[in-house]
Amino acid sequence: MSFELKTPITGDKLQIYRSLAPQIAALVEGESNTIANLANFCAVLKSSFGWLWIGFYLVEGEELVLGPFQGPVACTRIKKGKGVCGSSWQSKQIVIVPDVDAFPGHIACSTQSRSEIVIPLLDDTNNVWAVLDVDSALLNDFDATDSAGLSECLRPLMANR
Ligand code: SME
Repeated sequence: MSFELKTPITGDKLQIYRSLAPQIAALVEGESNTIANLANFCAVLKSSFGWLWIGFYLVEGEELVLGPFQGPVACTRIKKGKGVCGSSWQSKQIVIVPDVDAFPGHIACSTQSRSEIVIPLLDDTNNVWAVLDVDSALLNDFDATDSAGLSECLRPLMANR
């Protein structure tokens, strides 16, 4: 398999997300292994944006367990309701944290992380099976464009699971 990622050199992040979503769809099409697809998803997003860390935590019983990611070494297990990831899992809502130091219970896997977004991945029965976590070394790096753009990029993963 060969895949050449095309990321717009100029343009705002909305344009970048819009260009990535169909490329991710093409990349995961025909591959039924979820771990393989989550891993390539991380590679595409990490190489397109200058984030510190991007990865998935997978639901295993009452814990999230570290899945495919790109970036520094991370915590392996997070309990339901704990940290940003566990809160997103519990609430089934996207959580944007502009300043991790201001989020009560934030779990600091890397001291370089300053802001964060977590998106829960829901199955057909409305149960969370994983969360996507993105960390930035910049304060206030995520907004509604990232929620919408990342959700659009995730859609082909959900369809191909
Ligand atoms: N900060 C997260 C933990 C995961 S790491 O950032 C990769 C949290 O509070 O849940």
